[in-house]
Amino acid sequence: MSQLQGEIISAGAPSSNLGNYEEAVANFNWEDVEKQFSWYETGRVNLAYEAVDRHVAAGKGGQVALRFSDASRDETYTFAELQALSNQFANVLRSRGISKGDRVFVFMPRSPELYVSVLGIIKVGAVVGPLFEAFMETAVKDRLEDSGAVALVTTEALLPRVKRDELPLLKYVFLVGENIEPADGIIDYYKEMELAPAEAEIEWVNREDGLILHYTSGSTGKPKGVYHVHNAMLQHYYTGKVVLDLKEGDVFWCTADPGWVTGTSYGIFAPWLNGATNVVRGGRFSPGDWYETIQQNKVTVWYSAPTAFRMLMGAGEDIVKGYDLSSLRHVLSVGEPLNPEVVRWGCKVYGHRIHDTWWMTETGAQLICNYPSMPLKPGSMGKPLPGIQAAIIDDNGKVLPPGRMGNLAIRTPWPSMMRLIWNNAPKFEEYFRIPGWYISGDTAYMDEDGYFWFQGRIDDVINSSGERIGPFEVESKLVEHPAVAEAGVIGKPDPTRGEIIKAFISLREGYTPSEQLKAEIARFVKEGLSAHAAPREIEFKEKLPKTRSGKIMRRVLKAWELNLPAGDLSTIED
Ligand code: WTA
Repeated sequence: MSQLQGEIISAGAPSSNLGNYEEAVANFNWEDVEKQFSWYETGRVNLAYEAVDRHVAAGKGGQVALRFSDASRDETYTFAELQALSNQFANVLRSRGISKGDRVFVFMPRSPELYVSVLGIIKVGAVVGPLFEAFMETAVKDRLEDSGAVALVTTEALLPRVKRDELPLLKYVFLVGENIEPADGIIDYYKEMELAPAEAEIEWVNREDGLILHYTSGSTGKPKGVYHVHNAMLQHYYTGKVVLDLKEGDVFWCTADPGWVTGTSYGIFAPWLNGATNVVRGGRFSPGDWYETIQQNKVTVWYSAPTAFRMLMGAGEDIVKGYDLSSLRHVLSVGEPLNPEVVRWGCKVYGHRIHDTWWMTETGAQLICNYPSMPLKPGSMGKPLPGIQAAIIDDNGKVLPPGRMGNLAIRTPWPSMMRLIWNNAPKFEEYFRIPGWYISGDTAYMDEDGYFWFQGRIDDVINSSGERIGPFEVESKLVEHPAVAEAGVIGKPDPTRGEIIKAFISLREGYTPSEQLKAEIARFVKEGLSAHAAPREIEFKEKLPKTRSGKIMRRVLKAWELNLPAGDLSTIED
């Protein structure tokens, strides 16, 4: 099937936490993982306790939990300090009557306050809703509205994007900033924190109680709220141990923002459940700053994404020589297909294999991975996590033999599997339409050695720089522009970003195509929705291909773009 399949890079670290893969699979038992948590003995469950307070109780309160830096701040927090701060925020929330099951959102750039807020929200048993800082008005409103959020933590700079008059359920905004004017429902975050006691009762919850609500894109409709429960911590902890290979004294850096699932499952939960030092770097991507972050913090385990690795590769080998990266022990990637040449480059320039991992917002944690102790085939996502059964199945649920491409599916259930799509049971059920299986929406095949190879998406979801973008959300924004009559959006292959967003647009009467109009339309999406959702390319067309029922045929647009045959056109309008 693939000529690449023959290439094998031998195991990097046979003595890693997982040890021999086959033996780990054969001996695996989730109950052994449960025993690692204090609730196995006490019956009292809360992820925030296990991630922070437990380490303090075990005498490790002085250990560094968070190393934060950006252009203006450089701060260190121990587990004891995080415990006290998150207790304070839990008390702030409680004083406003916020309690178990309430949805509380965080909408802010990466900062210590963001991490403290997330932990405080979890401590009172509320459900965290992380929002990416680049979201604009519409994106913010859709998510707060759908979830029925009662409170939000945000900054002064981002507050204008929150349309409070259109969100009647949103009672409180905790505002992080220096000179907050008290107003109705606006609460000064720092002032309240100062007054709040540093001891707090933790809300003990059920393992099946809500933890986090991550909005993510599908190919139709608005973003869906993927709902995870505290039980997910089993898999956060276990994958942190055997995939991230976290050990005592490790300094871990996940480059993802908590607005995306990687930035919470692996930017917060997995490292802290394993007691690691967690490095957070704010600000934008820049090769020099990134290498500096590794050097300065002596990062040992680094988790990033193919687009970032491709950009670092583009920045060249020489810049790498300017930094001491010798602290690195283990490097991983997620979010999009990891090109074999990037893996080879990593081996050559960093002296490390880059370990690809596959999972989704819906799966809550890693499922198919490359492990330090396992030979690596560049271009393959690896093998299922011990305890997880993955298969390639056809549309009727028949398991296909090695080499055959089909639906990448996972045997249900597993600890970090989503439990709901908020307010949307039909969407949730679509994933489980074949009894006993979760259907990922990705296509793949498995080779004779049991390695999985990603092939593509079944639907029209776009993956640009590892960020999932729903074409529908972008199209809906585009048609709000006065010049746009109709819009169809596709992912166009791009050597660095994987895909970029391309929009095909037909104009309303009276508008003439021009470069200036293209720029204006792109800016309209950027300012209304978010920068990452704005089309990088726009093409004007007289007419867009539609089905007789009026649906724009993105498949035909894609075929146009790639100069491919358009396939079955029997449902096209004319
Ligand atoms: C894609 C990110 C190829 C895939 C954690 C999946 C990948 C979607 C990989 C989920 C990988 C993720 N190789 N493709 N290693 N990892 N994807 O929800 O299409 O933002 O369905 O989760 O990204 O994106 P999401």
